[in-house]
Amino acid sequence: MVMDGNGRWAQRQGKPRSHGHQAGSEALKRAVERILFHGIGHMTVYAFSSENWSRPSIEVKQLLDLFMKALNREVRELNDHEVCIRFVGDRSAFSRPLRDGMKRAEKITRNNRKLILNVAVNYGGRADITQAARQLATAVQSGQLSPADINEDLFDRHLSLHDDPAPDLLIRTGGEKRLSNFLLWQLAYTELHFSDVLWPDFDAEHVDAALHDFASRDRRFGGLSRVQSA
Ligand code: IPE
Ligand code: IPE
Ligand code: MG
Repeated sequence: MVMDGNGRWAQRQGKPRSHGHQAGSEALKRAVERILFHGIGHMTVYAFSSENWSRPSIEVKQLLDLFMKALNREVRELNDHEVCIRFVGDRSAFSRPLRDGMKRAEKITRNNRKLILNVAVNYGGRADITQAARQLATAVQSGQLSPADINEDLFDRHLSLHDDPAPDLLIRTGGEKRLSNFLLWQLAYTELHFSDVLWPDFDAEHVDAALHDFASRDRRFGGLSRVQSA
């Protein structure tokens, strides 16, 4: 899920953008509940892109403070719901307390299997692909790997979501029809659902509508549909 539209949601009400981010964190809670309700096992949310640093420093600070608070507040309940939280992205840019909070949340929830919830923070799809290429190049240079052994499976195993299946469905709220550097490799055959609803307004019924839309898709993966091949 690309949780987009927080700022516009707040600005439409004459409120500061941070108010939208706050409401956005509530929307995430509702979305996770609905995803659990449907028995979906994997979900990845885009919380902060590697390009979001280009926002005014006050907004970046408010967002990171909000992550910290939400982490401390929600980990227990997520754990009670058997959610395993994992963070993907480059954490080295974050403060020590935030990094510790992330590590703690991952440790507490690591054995949960009902839902794997990946939170993409300081994440960029291109950076992810680049670091995988670097790891493989290093292995080749040291003689551990031959270039001929590099295939899609091996490459995939060096990406940050290597434990998760490729996503079936991408939901982007907020009306923009673009990927904004999210999961570039993994989205190759993902179904795309774009919603005009601003993220803080995204509710259980919108999750259901997206899943309903997904259920009507004919996924061919380059082949023929069941009807065509019959
Ligand atoms: C998404 O909402 C949250 C983050 C990118 C962190 P935005 O803050 O991008 O909201 P809009 O798109 O400006 O309305
Ligand atoms: C994408 O939204 C990133 C997140 C939702 C975290 P942006 O608001 O950053 O995307 P652009 O700038 O409109 O492409
Ligand atoms: Mg946006």
